[in-house]
Amino acid sequence: MNDQFDEFSSLSQLHETTVSHGNGSLTPATPTTTARLQYLIENTPAIIYSSVPTGDFKMTFVSSNALRVLGYHPEEMVADPNFWFDHIHPEDIPQIFSSIAMLFTEGSRTYEYRFKSSNDQYIWMHDMLRLIRDAEGNPIEVVGSLTDITQRKQMEEALQKKGEEQQALIQKLQEAQEQLLQSEKMASVGQLAAGIAHEINNPVGFVNSNMGSLQNYVGTLFNVIEQYDKLFQHIPPASEFHQRLAAIREKADLVFLKDDIEDLVRESMDGLKRVKDIVQSLKDFSHVGEADWQEADIHQGLESTLNIVKNEIKYKANIVKEYGKLPPVKCLISQLNQVFMNLFVNASYAIKDSGVIHVSTGVQNDWVWIKVSDTGSGISPENLKHIFEPFFTTKPIGSGTGLGLSLAYGIIKKHRGKIEVESELGKGTSFTIRLPIHPENAPET
Ligand SMILES: Nc1ncnc2c1ncn2[C@@H]1O[C@H](COP(=O)(O)OP(=O)(O)OP(=O)(O)O)[C@@H](O)[C@H]1O
Ligand SMILES: [Mg+2]
Repeated sequence: MNDQFDEFSSLSQLHETTVSHGNGSLTPATPTTTARLQYLIENTPAIIYSSVPTGDFKMTFVSSNALRVLGYHPEEMVADPNFWFDHIHPEDIPQIFSSIAMLFTEGSRTYEYRFKSSNDQYIWMHDMLRLIRDAEGNPIEVVGSLTDITQRKQMEEALQKKGEEQQALIQKLQEAQEQLLQSEKMASVGQLAAGIAHEINNPVGFVNSNMGSLQNYVGTLFNVIEQYDKLFQHIPPASEFHQRLAAIREKADLVFLKDDIEDLVRESMDGLKRVKDIVQSLKDFSHVGEADWQEADIHQGLESTLNIVKNEIKYKANIVKEYGKLPPVKCLISQLNQVFMNLFVNASYAIKDSGVIHVSTGVQNDWVWIKVSDTGSGISPENLKHIFEPFFTTKPIGSGTGLGLSLAYGIIKKHRGKIEVESELGKGTSFTIRLPIHPENAPET
């Protein structure tokens, strides 16, 4: 192509039958060459044109098939000094004008842009421009060829759209698969938890009732001993009977025993209460068979989840709670519990030695918010962009799936809510979940 142009540098000169050689010198063309060039220009599918190499690139020559392709007569195109510039799609102008200066350093440029035809429709054009210089190297003019590439562009667009659709489909599939994986995992964890809760419930039940009886019996027993004690006062201290009884009492350390048995029973009852709470938390957490939407108490969800992860967290983090007053929220509470759990575990993981996990809640208009902040390692801005992506993890290989937050995102989206994150390296991280109280009235997110 370049060689071809070297054969005739200046189209406007064509009529004067001169031809430029590669060195830029203009030599007269033979009548045969002129006729040949004339024929080529008029019969290529492209529009051949020339323009001045300055300003708005006023066109100085346009081949006649401009009429066929664009619907303009070459004369009107040449007559208007701004014709070229004025017909380029406004969105495509910047990419051309930001780089057209390179035409003067490199000698040629190629552009693809939309050009307005006479019926006000934009036609995609492929434009190859070449700068022509005189013998001294000064720019004389620009020669170009415009080819209609609308069809190719349409095909490309269709292909791209298809590609995007495919990509979206793949993503949907991937999400569905993760959800399935996770819900399977959670279902079995939930079932396990519910099973354990049930198994523990029975023995805890009878131990609890026995402890109640024991407490009563111990009370009665000590009462009897007290009565004996009173009788004991009446026995003469010098008698052998008195002395033997006094020795037995001493050995048994009756006073200490009385105090301690009461403590032991009380502590055992406290311990049992805690076991019962944990069992209740396991039940609340698993909510086996409660896959349906229900009005739930978010605080209860937070509490039961905290109870479960407390052991993992307590050596590292102090949990500070600041609960507002929340109305019941229509939600899938067991799924929200999964989200809370992952936030707590992530927060605790981010804390190296010791720190604070702050859990606060509140209401704003028709929404509730739950905020989990930690004083952990924080997340770099680079990583922050990716944390909700499936399989993104900074945990060592084998210890994290990187699914926690992507699932959290999916679950919150299902509730038409939002999950936001703020983080500063070295300072800590805050996740805020916002949930509509009545998701059925909220717009999809
Ligand atoms: N509170 C936090 N502080 C610092 N980094 C966090 C915090 N929460 C999440 N991250 C970062 O986001 C990443 C992704 O978290 P996500 O819960 O999705 O996966 P994970 O915790 O790595 O793995 P999994 O949840 O399967 O155990 C984490 O690896 C970590 O780099
Ligand atoms: Mg996690």
